[in-house]
Amino acid sequence: MFKWRTKDICEKDILSPDGRLKCHFSLKSGHISYSVSRNDKVIIRPSKLGFLICGENPLRDNLKLIRTHTRKHDEIIELQWGEDRYIQNTYTETAFYLAESKEPRRIFTIRFRVFNDSVAFRYEIPPQPKFRRITIKDELTEFNLDLNTLAWKIPAYQPDRYEYNYEKSAVYDLQNSVHTPLTLRTPNGYYLAIHEAALYNYGSMTIKLNAQNILKADITPLSDGTKAHINLPFNTPWRLIMVASSAIELTTNRTMYALNKAPTQDFSWVHTLKFIGIWWAMYVGEWTWAPGERHGATTEHAKEYIDAAVRLGISGLLIEGWNEGWEGDWLENGINNKFTVATSDFNLEEVATYATEHNIELVGHHETVGFVDNYEKQLEAAYSYYAANNIHYIKTGYAGSMMMINGHREFHHSQLGVNHYQKTVELAAKNHICLDIHEPIKGTGIERTWPNLLSREGARGQEYEGGALSPSHACFLPYTRLLAGGMDYTSGIFDLANSVKRMATTLARQVAYFVTIYSGMAMAADRPFIYEDRFPNVFEFIRAVPTNFEKTLPLLGEIGEYYVVARKDRESADWFLGGVTNENGRRVHIDLDFLDSGAYQATIYADSDDAHYRENPFGINIQQKHIGRGEALDIYMSPGGGFAIQLKKL
Ligand code: NOJ
Ligand code: CA
Repeated sequence: MFKWRTKDICEKDILSPDGRLKCHFSLKSGHISYSVSRNDKVIIRPSKLGFLICGENPLRDNLKLIRTHTRKHDEIIELQWGEDRYIQNTYTETAFYLAESKEPRRIFTIRFRVFNDSVAFRYEIPPQPKFRRITIKDELTEFNLDLNTLAWKIPAYQPDRYEYNYEKSAVYDLQNSVHTPLTLRTPNGYYLAIHEAALYNYGSMTIKLNAQNILKADITPLSDGTKAHINLPFNTPWRLIMVASSAIELTTNRTMYALNKAPTQDFSWVHTLKFIGIWWAMYVGEWTWAPGERHGATTEHAKEYIDAAVRLGISGLLIEGWNEGWEGDWLENGINNKFTVATSDFNLEEVATYATEHNIELVGHHETVGFVDNYEKQLEAAYSYYAANNIHYIKTGYAGSMMMINGHREFHHSQLGVNHYQKTVELAAKNHICLDIHEPIKGTGIERTWPNLLSREGARGQEYEGGALSPSHACFLPYTRLLAGGMDYTSGIFDLANSVKRMATTLARQVAYFVTIYSGMAMAADRPFIYEDRFPNVFEFIRAVPTNFEKTLPLLGEIGEYYVVARKDRESADWFLGGVTNENGRRVHIDLDFLDSGAYQATIYADSDDAHYRENPFGINIQQKHIGRGEALDIYMSPGGGFAIQLKKL
């Protein structure tokens, strides 16, 4: 009989293609670990790997190496839409095939990929006799960092899901589990983000400090206390460590997409979208979601908004509160939501026909309040209903603090939550529907495989304005949440001094968001009359800005302080620049070396010298000039301010 010559000891380096980033794998005394360094400076110290499995021995001990397999991969992948058309998928891969040296002699593989800017690895467990369906009790993956590493974090397992303000603390001070992407700065000056890619059929990874003061994976549990029930073969999501020399460099790490698969079906019907909505009027108390005198989603209002979208040059319209289920306390009563029954003052067929006649894409709305059982019962009918009415976009929402799945309260980020979101994405694809998921599962790059998942929320958005957002919030996002992909931040609120929802931003900053916070479905969130009657010239930027970019260049910034980015349109030679700052005003100097040769017409939307997010939010200067490569722009951002620039190629 053929016998593998197994090894008890293995020490192996896996080097990035440029040789600077190194992952070291170690097998000794039956245990496996990895560490990471860059330019020979330690980033992650030896960190354990493995699992606890319910009713079985841990998959961690008495390990031997059967064989290794190393290969190099070099590819440029093209994304259908997004911040960058082309992504480098270039890495060195080593797979370590392992076996237990004692009974039950199970086998599994750990596969590492080392990119120039990231280290990723996953576990792959094949089916084996008596080892086919397993329950994960704990994933033991560690990220052993210097305790003085700084972390920018939001807490996990809280009622408002990902909707918290970012806080900075040293790793030794992490008291509770935190979500990924977890952005970090090591004492030797590297910026990291720990995240995951291709999250399917498994609990989402949060991170916690264990009793030994080591950061470790904390997989979101199910209501039965376990982490995941899986059938073998099973590959875990990729554990991803992004590595950069500066905070701004981190913002364009795209490895997450490279770790996801290419689509396996035709998605040529997917198009990014800009839309307005029957929405902010509810937040400022003018209209209501529920039927009544001030009901927002009436046939009449919808037609008025469709007319306004046409005048504004915006292609889509979201309609919230159109269906039965909003009466009373909608958060409490969400279990009654009906997704195929319109309220008596809203005629979906009539509105949909009117929208089609006017070339406007309707964005349907399903607020589930997290009552997944109720939603899944209606899912097929609800998506068919929209599809039959020529509706190709749906915003979904899961505003409850927990999900109700199979009669149990589950975390949104648990295996069952992950599987529910995936079900909606796949069923939507079948119906040629694109999704914008609010209260979503975090992005792990599955948009590469499922491009109809155009956007998500998954952080505090502008609905928290009016007190709960500070100007620093949108200066944290590019370095944290947005590492997980685009976000529907509901940008473009121009009614800054509204007595119900006063914004902690300037006017120029509201248009800056269309560049600094990418979304494949980008909402111009204010009421159309605000745009048309009060600020038609500022709205020009929203009309012009694309929702699909050829490339993104991170220019300047520091976490929570400021952020400046340039993006090239995918359909033209034009560039769009955006910047935001926290409570501190600042002047930024932008070299335009990245432009092609030839002249550009610049339209600059910048804070006036006396603008201020509290005292003078409307202070804006709109200026036009010709400019070209080799020149530079000096732009002032006021406290809580920002800027947006359109560079039109002449
Ligand atoms: C929370 C979403 O983020 C928001 O956009 C929506 O309006 C409400 N839920 C109601 O569905
Ligand atoms: Ca929300």
